[in-house]
Amino acid sequence: MTIDELDTPSVLVDLDVLESNIKRMADYCHQHHLQLRPHAKTHKSVVVAKMQLAAGACGLTVAKPDEADMMAAAGIEDILVAYPIVTARKAARIAKLAERAKMRVALDSIEAIECLSRAAAAQGVDIGVLVEVDIGFARCGVGRPEDSIALARAADRMRGVRFDGLMFYPGHIKSPASEQAPLIEEVNRRLIPHYEAFTAAGIPVSIVSGGSTPTAVQSHHFKGVTEIRPGMYAFLDRNMLTIGVGTREQCAITVLVTIVSNVARSRVIMDGGSKTFSYDPLSVGDHRGYGLVLGQPHAEVIGFSEEHGHLDTSRCARAPRVGERLRIIPNHVCATINMHDRVFGIRGDRVEQIIHVDARGGVQ
Ligand SMILES: Cc1ncc(COP(=O)(O)O)c(C=O)c1O
Repeated sequence: MTIDELDTPSVLVDLDVLESNIKRMADYCHQHHLQLRPHAKTHKSVVVAKMQLAAGACGLTVAKPDEADMMAAAGIEDILVAYPIVTARKAARIAKLAERAKMRVALDSIEAIECLSRAAAAQGVDIGVLVEVDIGFARCGVGRPEDSIALARAADRMRGVRFDGLMFYPGHIKSPASEQAPLIEEVNRRLIPHYEAFTAAGIPVSIVSGGSTPTAVQSHHFKGVTEIRPGMYAFLDRNMLTIGVGTREQCAITVLVTIVSNVARSRVIMDGGSKTFSYDPLSVGDHRGYGLVLGQPHAEVIGFSEEHGHLDTSRCARAPRVGERLRIIPNHVCATINMHDRVFGIRGDRVEQIIHVDARGGVQ
């Protein structure tokens, strides 16, 4: 089948680009002796996870037990849940998975450790704990070294859980690589007191899990990092291109749409709206627009209804005709893929593979 035969809207994934993005990150990690544990929330797909593992990833990161279930059922044996698990129901699911996969959970509270310990002890398994440290993003994570030490000691005291190390997420760093040095220094300034406290307490820290897509290839500048968890790197999106993380040619994802109405010069409507793209704003730069229209640099995606995408084409030399197809890079790849049961792997004009978004809608 060729792309022309696909109905719209459809999400297209350029397989050559995806493969080269996966390889480039694996090579970077290999070169810097870092483990790569890609975040599967971006693709939620077993096929893509297996491509990442085949290229050398040590395991996967997930946010949700639903995602962990899906990946473990596909035979993936090393999973970090980079999200606090604080309820008995979710902890029991993680403990069940620990019977067949190496499971770790990142957390920042005694309640989370107690909850995991109860579930693990009841199941007769061991679950690794990474204590999350807040390094400036101000979401989850403890700030004070005495708090990370207290959580590590609690994990080592309780049945079924074991302290394995620390995790941090530099989600606030969204600038080009050339401007990241002072921000990374600030992260190090927050991390180092934790390392010193663990050394003084004689508690080994075997894993320090860091990394996001914007900072991924600067990871060797973060002190003590042993593994990284980028997710978006495999596809990239308009947010990442806007801050200079990759080039247009390195972006693997586009959404194929059809123009369905062009009654007014500045009101061209396409058949993908918020249920196709998500409504994520551009989180960087001038925050304008909801996608990058390929081949129409002056067309602006100005908004969405559920099934209608609104294009302002008043500055275009030629407005798209009804029935014409366009390809658009979405603002945020993770949110876009999560809207689709399947995406289409293409090579050139050929549709080579249907990629199922296995854990789509798996938010628990
Ligand atoms: C805890 C955690 N780790 C890793 C990632 C992946 O980073 P990125 O989305 O920049 O690829 C995320 C993304 O939200 C995250 O929340």
